[in-house]
Amino acid sequence: MNTRGSLARRKRDNLRWLLILVPLLLLSSSAEARVQKCLICHGKPDFKKVDTSGRVKHLYVDEDVIKRSVHAKKTCTGCHFDAIEIPHREAPQRVHCVRCHYRGNPEGAPQSDKYLEYNESVHGKQVAKGTNKKAPLCQDCHGDHEIRHTKDPLAQTAHLNVARTCGKCHIEIYAVYMNSIHGRSTYEKKNPDTPDCTGCHGEHSILSPKDLESTVYPIGVVKTCSHCHAEIGIVGKYGIEVEQVATYEDSFHGIGLKYGLKTAASCASCHGTHNILPHDDPRSSVYIENIPRTCGKCHPGANINYARGKIHIDPSKRSAGIVFYVAFLFKWLTILVILGLITHIGLDLYRRSSQWRELKKNQRM
Ligand code: HEC
Ligand code: HEC
Ligand code: HEC
Ligand code: HEC
Ligand code: HEC
Ligand code: HEC
Ligand code: HEC
Ligand code: HEC
Ligand code: HEC
Repeated sequence: MNTRGSLARRKRDNLRWLLILVPLLLLSSSAEARVQKCLICHGKPDFKKVDTSGRVKHLYVDEDVIKRSVHAKKTCTGCHFDAIEIPHREAPQRVHCVRCHYRGNPEGAPQSDKYLEYNESVHGKQVAKGTNKKAPLCQDCHGDHEIRHTKDPLAQTAHLNVARTCGKCHIEIYAVYMNSIHGRSTYEKKNPDTPDCTGCHGEHSILSPKDLESTVYPIGVVKTCSHCHAEIGIVGKYGIEVEQVATYEDSFHGIGLKYGLKTAASCASCHGTHNILPHDDPRSSVYIENIPRTCGKCHPGANINYARGKIHIDPSKRSAGIVFYVAFLFKWLTILVILGLITHIGLDLYRRSSQWRELKKNQRM
């Protein structure tokens, strides 16, 4: 009785396990099989097509690449949902990443309003309009099968790779940037503190420089450069002073720009943008011999005398030259005058009070 009962229970248990395991096995094998099905054709290293204009497109997919990416657990059709039919009736379309990457998605794909700003960016708008086939989709910056976390140094979006990623399309700017102090420092010194393209433009929120809200619109530029150049913790490490920002803000240009004088010089009007170099480099726009040309853009007739004075002047420093001594003189002159004034008033009060005491004494007598 006892043994028969336990035997029946064991049978029941086995059956229950089978009921759970078989569908699971079927499911996983079908997912696996689906990938394998794709790889029957796309797993062949020489699989390619030639389009009508004679251009060769390689259709080989290295599965190991996907396995190393953030999407290791995703199936081919998770992204290429329109490629299920085999043979494909039409060539599959480009992948829409936001099919999974949206707020509240059941896939567990990271969700953030930050990268949805892409829709409002200069790139996203061009894509939405559909007129510019060259504007980047998510995958043009992130990669297709080899997407990695930004912290991974091999990611296309990692600090050291961003310029190359943007540079695929913005070729000339890339070349100029790579020769600037910021580009050289990033690539030659692997400097984590210098701006790559996104350090000045943002990532998903990139706007045209003509857009008032842009980080590179004249007013935005001052904020963008100051983000690092007003922080001793960032630029101090490289022997660069932070007073440039404060002195700029107190200058004609700084005050003018702040109060809406759009023609006043921002940091970029004098230093350039993608070609910024230290002032002792002859190619720099603020190299002494180039200053007449740099200032001359807005001050017609600016000559070498324009280059005589220092631009970023902090009058409290001896290095400001004559300005320092004039400021020094005025400071002490003011102090002396005030001291003199106080002494004068004090003496006057003393004289009046002693006169008054004298008068009282005479009256009493
Ligand atoms: C029988 C072979 C075969 C199988 C199996 C196959 N494909 Fe294809 N695939 C092709 C061919 C051929 C093309 C080129 C189609 C064209 O451009 O007209 C193609 C094109 C594609 C493209 C578009 C490439 C491009 O940019 O032009 C994608 C994406 C794709 N396949 C994904 C898949 C997925 C995902 C699977 C599995 C569900 C799969 N394929 C299974 C033959 C195959
Ligand atoms: C994370 C999403 C994702 C997954 C998963 C994925 N792909 Fe792709 N695949 C892309 C993107 C993005 C492209 C680039 C074309 C585009 O923009 O749609 C691409 C391109 C392709 C192409 C065109 C050739 C090429 O390399 O440009 C083929 C073929 C292809 N994928 C097949 C596959 C197969 C087979 C699998 C599964 C083993 C797979 N893909 C998995 C996103 C994905
Ligand atoms: C089928 C759904 C799906 C699609 C389509 C998809 N993803 Fe993902 N993605 C995910 C999931 C799920 C994760 C989280 C993976 C993990 O952390 O294990 C992820 C992770 C990521 C990450 C890492 C995010 C982080 O915060 O670490 C990036 C970047 C990413 N995806 C970009 C893309 C891009 C670009 C595309 C389009 C080519 C794309 N994804 C298409 C599901 C998807
Ligand atoms: C113009 C290039 C560009 C485009 C287009 C773009 N991204 Fe990004 N994305 C980046 C860069 C650069 C970063 C790294 C941000 C950082 O350093 O914090 C990033 C970060 C991310 C992250 C966080 C990843 C991580 O590993 O921390 C996700 C998720 C993401 N992007 C998704 C998307 C999606 C979805 C789209 C399309 C709607 C998209 N991106 C379009 C450049 C781009
Ligand atoms: C796949 C190609 C591609 C990639 C990658 C790309 N862009 Fe663009 N970008 C474009 C196109 C196309 C435009 C629109 C051009 C135009 O309007 O003149 C554009 C416009 C811009 C603009 C506005 C230009 C203007 O005058 O209005 C800026 C700024 C910009 N991109 C910066 C970047 C940065 C920074 C990155 C990297 C994070 C990047 N782009 C990656 C193609 C790309
Ligand atoms: C130090 C800050 C800074 C860095 C780094 C930077 N940019 Fe710019 N970028 C600017 C400024 C400022 C402007 C606006 C120029 C103007 O108003 O004419 C600009 C303008 C642009 C424009 C549109 C106008 C044009 O000149 O065509 C594009 C496109 C662009 N940048 C792409 C890039 C790319 C790609 C990189 C990386 C290789 C990059 N930028 C790195 C500051 C920067
Ligand atoms: C993400 C931080 C960051 C941003 C944004 C940034 N810079 Fe820099 N900049 C640096 C760092 C760090 C260095 C030092 C690099 C080195 O010497 O290796 C530097 C160097 C310089 C130098 C050379 C200084 C010298 O004495 O060698 C100038 C000039 C300069 N930046 C101007 C600008 C201007 C103008 C802007 C805005 C358009 C700007 N920077 C935006 C971080 C930044
Ligand atoms: C009117 C033109 C002008 C403006 C505007 C301007 N600068 Fe300068 N900047 C110069 C000149 C010229 C020098 C060279 C040395 C000097 O006179 O101080 C210089 C020097 C510098 C240096 C030291 C570089 C070196 O090679 O020693 C930094 C850093 C700097 N500026 C950052 C900025 C920042 C950040 C802004 C905006 C907040 C800015 N500048 C605005 C003209 C300008
Ligand atoms: C983008 C245009 C622009 C550039 C470049 C520029 N300035 Fe100016 N500057 C202005 C404007 C606008 C004013 C305020 C209007 C005025 O009074 O002329 C001004 C005012 C001044 C003033 C205040 C006295 C005066 O003449 O009104 C001085 C000094 C000055 N700039 C010096 C320089 C020097 C030195 C350089 C080059 C290193 C330079 N500026 C580059 C636009 C510019």
